[in-house]
Amino acid sequence: MLPFQVNDAIQLKLIKPQDRDELYSLFDLNRVFLREWLLWVDKRQSPDDLDAVIEVWTRNYEENNGFDAGVWFNQELVGMIGLHYIDWRNKATSIGYFLSESSQGRGIVTTAIEKLITYLFNDLKLNRVIIQCAENNIRSRAIPEKLGFVNEGTSRQAQWLYDHYENIVTYSLLSSEWQECVSK
Ligand SMILES: CC(C)(COP(=O)(O)OP(=O)(O)OC[C@H]1O[C@@H](n2cnc3c(N)ncnc32)[C@H](O)[C@@H]1OP(=O)(O)O)[C@@H](O)C(=O)NCCC(=O)NCCS
Repeated sequence: MLPFQVNDAIQLKLIKPQDRDELYSLFDLNRVFLREWLLWVDKRQSPDDLDAVIEVWTRNYEENNGFDAGVWFNQELVGMIGLHYIDWRNKATSIGYFLSESSQGRGIVTTAIEKLITYLFNDLKLNRVIIQCAENNIRSRAIPEKLGFVNEGTSRQAQWLYDHYENIVTYSLLSSEWQECVSK
């Protein structure tokens, strides 16, 4: 599955131990920005904190249970896109993502996910892809909305974010809907 070439500029690659320091810099430089929506940011306080998580990511990928890929834009690590799991029995998965603050506004995630979805449905033969976003995370919600995902509804106060609960919106896309959309 990886490396995954999205286009000439965008590539998804598995995060390897040698990427650790570059990834840590990305977290550290964008700490305040990422912290607004992502809970794990505070757990990454030094490059060493990434060793264990990179091992988990490597194992998940080897076990065919999703991936945590770095997003390289013109050879620079600018974010991550992942499949949180692959539920092979139900042929379903869930996508997550983040970018550095300065890499926003270029369509990097939308473009990458659009291509990735085609791969997930056509090559891996998955049937259902979900994206879950905090209700107030407008930039994140714009991505599934642009790609034609269906809003399945809102789970009220489903996530504790530091000092308050967030409502979580679940978007889904089915293989049949994507094939119909692509053939239009
Ligand atoms: C969520 C997040 C990845 C969205 O970033 P983003 O840059 O808005 O998303 P994309 O890479 O898809 O780019 C879309 C933007 O690029 C613009 N764009 C430029 N070229 C484009 C293209 N070819 N295709 C699509 N969009 C394009 C779009 O108009 C849009 O900008 P706008 O919102 O100003 O109109 C980013 O805000 C982030 O990392 N936030 C913090 C972490 C987070 O919330 N993660 C999600 C948790 S659920």
